[in-house]
Amino acid sequence: MTYENILFEVRDGVGLLTFNRPKALNALNPATIEEVNDVIERVRKDDTVRVLVLTGAGEKAFVAGADITQFPRMNPFEARAFAERGQEVFAKLEELPKPVIACANGFTLGGGCELAMSCDFIYASDKAKFGQPEINLGIIPGFGGTQRLSRLVGRARAKELCMTGEMIDARQALDLGLVAKVFPAEQLLEETLKVASRLAAKSQAALRAIKFVVDRGVDVDLRSGCALEAEAFGAAFAGQDAREGVAAFLEKRTPDFKGSLTS
Ligand code: COA
Repeated sequence: MTYENILFEVRDGVGLLTFNRPKALNALNPATIEEVNDVIERVRKDDTVRVLVLTGAGEKAFVAGADITQFPRMNPFEARAFAERGQEVFAKLEELPKPVIACANGFTLGGGCELAMSCDFIYASDKAKFGQPEINLGIIPGFGGTQRLSRLVGRARAKELCMTGEMIDARQALDLGLVAKVFPAEQLLEETLKVASRLAAKSQAALRAIKFVVDRGVDVDLRSGCALEAEAFGAAFAGQDAREGVAAFLEKRTPDFKGSLTS
């Protein structure tokens, strides 16, 4: 597939997907969502891509939401299908068995905020703004915002943000727990890529297990979640990375994790 709305490159185990419609503040149209889906499929299959980073082209935006220009043509059935497809692709991103970092370099609104919340964590520029402004269009979030935001920041703050449509800055998003770290705008991508490179050198099997257990555990009772963790802990001991990591510690050297996701 050739991409018209995004850029995708892989360097040293890190895939970088850049939303590239800066004139529309990188708004998500259906074609962009299909291109993201294609990247997810590529990254899933390609062992050389160990970490995925998402960011936006231009100075102003990560992604300023779904593309509003298509809304006047949509009937309720088409709108539901659009929401369902977006949800499906974002769920695939969330379930990709590799770390995914959102590098929120500007407006991260509506579908952009929903996309960022589908990543494992969000690093933000000090100029970024977050929000679910759909209410101001007389509609509601459709790509999982009402659900992921409430799970991340609690129901009351999620409802406040979705009901007021208020934008918050990166510092407020950090205080809320929506964002993991805030960096000066000019350092954001470099710092994010540094962390991505560090993750690319870790055990891919262990990263996959952490992601799986945290995400699957969050919706179950504590006892079941801990049982899931114990199973995954046990399974980790079957992999070559556990042998290498423990041996490297005991031999006082840096581990060289070569295990594939299936080892
Ligand atoms: N869909 C389509 N186009 C969008 C867009 C979106 N979600 N967000 C911004 N754009 C377009 C604008 O229409 C404008 O296009 P134009 O230059 O052809 O007029 C361009 O991007 C720049 O945006 P502009 O509004 O001029 O920038 P700004 O700095 O004044 O305001 C925002 C920035 C983000 C506050 C404002 O663009 C905005 O409110 N966007 C919509 C956010 C939203 O509601 N998202 C949820 C959608 S469901």
